[in-house]
Amino acid sequence: MSRTINSPLSKSLGSLAGWKQVANAIVGETSNGRFQIQFYNEGTTRISITQADTFEDFSYSVVASPAFNPVVTDNQDALEVRTSKFILRISKNPVRFGFYTLDNQPINEDDPGFGTSWNGEQVTTYKKIQAGERFIGLGEKTGPLDRKGNGYQNWNTDNFAYSPGADPLYCSIPFYMGVHNGLVYGIFFDNTHKSFFNFGASNNRFTSFSADAGEMNYYFMYGSSVAEIIQQYTHLTGRMEMPPLWSIGYQQCRYSYYPDKEVLTLAKTFREKDIPADTIVFDIHYMDQYKIFTWSQRDFSDPKELLVQLQRMGFQVVVMCDPGIKVEEGYDTYDKGIREDVFIKYQDGTNYTGQVWPGWCHFPDFTNPKTRMWWQKQFTDYVNIGVEGFWNDMNEIATWGQMIPENIELDFEGNQATMRRGRNLYGMQMARSTYEGAKNLLKGKRPFNLTRSGFSGVQRYAAVWTGDNVAYDEHMLLGVRLVNSMGLSGIAFAGYDVGGFVGDANSKLFARWVSIGAFSPFFRGHSMINSRDSEPWAYGEEVEQISRNYIKFRYQLLPYLYSLFYDASTTGMPVQRSLAIDYTHDWKIYDGQFHNQFLLGPSILVAPAESTKEFVKVYLPEGEWYSLYNGQKYPGQSEIIVECPVHRLPVFIKGGAIIPMKPVLSNTKEVSDHLTLHLYAGKQDTSFEYYEDDGSTFQYQEGRFAKRLVEYRPHERMFILNATEGTYVSPVRKLKIVWHGFDATLAEATVNGNPVAVNNDVNQFFAALEKFDPFFDPEPAPRENVHSVEIEYSTAAITLQW
Ligand code: NOJ
Repeated sequence: MSRTINSPLSKSLGSLAGWKQVANAIVGETSNGRFQIQFYNEGTTRISITQADTFEDFSYSVVASPAFNPVVTDNQDALEVRTSKFILRISKNPVRFGFYTLDNQPINEDDPGFGTSWNGEQVTTYKKIQAGERFIGLGEKTGPLDRKGNGYQNWNTDNFAYSPGADPLYCSIPFYMGVHNGLVYGIFFDNTHKSFFNFGASNNRFTSFSADAGEMNYYFMYGSSVAEIIQQYTHLTGRMEMPPLWSIGYQQCRYSYYPDKEVLTLAKTFREKDIPADTIVFDIHYMDQYKIFTWSQRDFSDPKELLVQLQRMGFQVVVMCDPGIKVEEGYDTYDKGIREDVFIKYQDGTNYTGQVWPGWCHFPDFTNPKTRMWWQKQFTDYVNIGVEGFWNDMNEIATWGQMIPENIELDFEGNQATMRRGRNLYGMQMARSTYEGAKNLLKGKRPFNLTRSGFSGVQRYAAVWTGDNVAYDEHMLLGVRLVNSMGLSGIAFAGYDVGGFVGDANSKLFARWVSIGAFSPFFRGHSMINSRDSEPWAYGEEVEQISRNYIKFRYQLLPYLYSLFYDASTTGMPVQRSLAIDYTHDWKIYDGQFHNQFLLGPSILVAPAESTKEFVKVYLPEGEWYSLYNGQKYPGQSEIIVECPVHRLPVFIKGGAIIPMKPVLSNTKEVSDHLTLHLYAGKQDTSFEYYEDDGSTFQYQEGRFAKRLVEYRPHERMFILNATEGTYVSPVRKLKIVWHGFDATLAEATVNGNPVAVNNDVNQFFAALEKFDPFFDPEPAPRENVHSVEIEYSTAAITLQW
C-alpha cells in the first residue's frame, strides 16, 4: 500500500478538508492545496489544482466555457460526480481523481501514491498505467505512433536539421489520448511553462505530465472514439477556418527565389511544363537586408507589377514574416515600434535585443493587444499590392545563440508573465497577430497563414509545417508521422518540406517525397540556400513526369480534399488521418512496420515507403480495399507485400468510398463544370459530405456554400446525392459517376427512375511513363475496367439505382 507523500521536498494534494459548489464549478480544499472542477460538456471536465489562494483562470488556448454543474454525491470515502458519459470519483484521503465508465471500468486514474504533487515549484500529475495502455498524440513530436515508454518535453525550439528522434521541436501541443481495453480518453494539460510528458519512460509505474511552474490545469475528455475526443479537444481549443482554395494547391518555395526575373521564370516553367501549381513563396531574400516589410530595391524593384504578372499566370504569393525587427533608426517599422512601445522587455524595462537574420533586433510582444494592432498596420502595403499569404517563421523565438533569456517580460493581456510562461506561446501569438491583422486588411478575403512555432489552439490561426527537415528517407517518413500526430492533436492543416530542406535529395527520394506530399494537407516543395535545385523538373525527365502525375492527381482530388477541410473546420477531424482514428483498437496499426500509414480523409489509404524500396509490406485494416492504380481488390485485416517503384506509391481505396474529383487544371482559379464521383463497391452503407464554396471569402459562414450528403446503400443498389444545402451556386453542370469493383455485367441503371445508359469504361488516374531508359520499356500505365454514367448535374436530389 503506497502512502501519500508529504516531505520537505515533495508534497501531494493531501486529504479533503471541505468542498462546495459555486457557479459552474465544484471547489475543494485539501490539506496541501485546493482544486476546482468544471464541466464543458457531458464528456469534458477540467481539473485545476493549485497551492495558491486563487486560480489563474487564463488561457490563450481554450475558447469554450464551462457549461453546467452536475450533481455531486458525498459518500463516506469519496465524492462522486456523474455525467451521462462518465463518473468522476474523488477519493477524500488522499485526494485523488479517477474517471470511470458508467459501468465502473477505470478509464483513467491517479497514481494512488502521488496523485498531483509538487516538487519545489514543479507540479506533476501522475496517472496509473492501465493494462495494455497505449498513448497517441502530443502534436509535433518525433518517435513512434504509440508513445508508450517514451518521454517528451514541451519547449518550443528552433531545431535546425533535427534528427529523427529529436525533442523538442518548434511546436508544443500538450494533448494526448490514452487507449486501452476498448476505451479512449484525452488529456489536455493547459499550462504553457516548460512541460514534460512521461508515458512510462524510465519507470514501470506511471504516466505523468508536469510543468516547471504554474497550476495543474488539465482537461479530461471521454468519448466513444478518437474522432469524438478530437472533436472535444477542438471544441475546447478551436478549429481552423476554411483556407483559401489556392493554398491547398501546390506551393513552390526555396530559400530563396530571387531576383524577380527568376520568380517569373519559375512561374512560367510550371505552366510550360504543364505541372499544376498555385503559389510561389518568397523567402527572406525579397526583403532589403532581411528587414521585414521592406523589399530589396535591387532584386524586387516593382513588387506590385511582379504580383500582377504572377496573378495573370494564376499564381498567388506567400511572403516570409520574421518577428525580429532590426534595430536601425530610419527603418520605418523599427521607428514606429519604438514610438508605440511594442517590443518585449527585460524586467528593468529595456527592450530585449537578440540577433537574427538582419543583425541585432527587437521582437514584438504579440501578447499585447496594442502590439497586435501595430503589427496589423505593418501589413497594409503587402495587402495593397495583392499579397494574401503569410509565413511566420523563427517564432520560437529563434535567435543566434538559441537561448532566449527567461527574464524577458510579456504583457500577457495585462496579466504580465516572463518568458518562462510565455516562450511556448510566442509563436502562436505571432501567428494570431498575422492572421487577425491580415484578415482585417483583406476585407472579407481569406488569408493563408503558415507558422513554424505554435501551441494548442494554433489551428485557429495558421497551418503548421515541420520546419527544417533533412533530405533522407527516414526524415521523409518522420514528416508523415509528425503530420499524423498533429492531426490527432487538432492541427488539421499541416505539412513538411517536400524534397527535404537541408541537404540534397536524389532523384528517387524527390520522386517519392512529392508523391507522398501530394496526399498531405499542406503541400509545398522547399529547400535551403546552397542546396541543389529542387523543383519538380530539377531531377531529370522521369522524376518530372512522376511529379506531374502526382501533382495532377492532387488537383483532380481537390473536391474531395476541400470537403475534408470543411470537415476539419466544423468537427476538427484532420485531413490526413493516422490509422489510430478509425482503427484505434486494432493493435497492428501501432506496429512500427505500419505506423507511417495514413488515410487521406475517410477512404484513401497511403502507405509511404522509402524511395530505396522496390517492395513494401502494407497492412490493410478492416474492410475491403482496392488498388488506386488498377482496382485490384484486397481483403481487410491483411498484410500484403506490394511493389513500390518510385513512380507507384502504394495507395488503396476503401470499399464503399465516395470520392468527388474534377478534371485536372493548371491552378485552382480555373473552373470546370465537370464533377466525377468515384464509387467503390462496398458492403456497408457509407456517406460523404461533398462541400463547395467560392474558395476565397468568408461568406460561407453566412450560408453561401453548397453542400450535399452523398450516400451509398449497397443493399438497395442505390447511390443518392441528397439535395444541395446552402446558397452558393456551384459551377458544376455535368456529373459522371464511376463504379469501381462492381459486377462486370452491370448494364442498366436509372436516375430518378428514368433509365440511363451504363458505359463500360476504362479508368486511368495516372499517365504512362515515357520511355526514358533505352534498354527497358516502361510498364504500361495501369488501367481499370469500370462502369460509368454521365448525367446533367442538378442541385435537387439525384438517385441512381442499378
Ligand atoms: C528557417 C525556416 O525553417 C526555413 O524554412 C527558411 O527557409 C529559413 N528560416 C530562411 O528564412
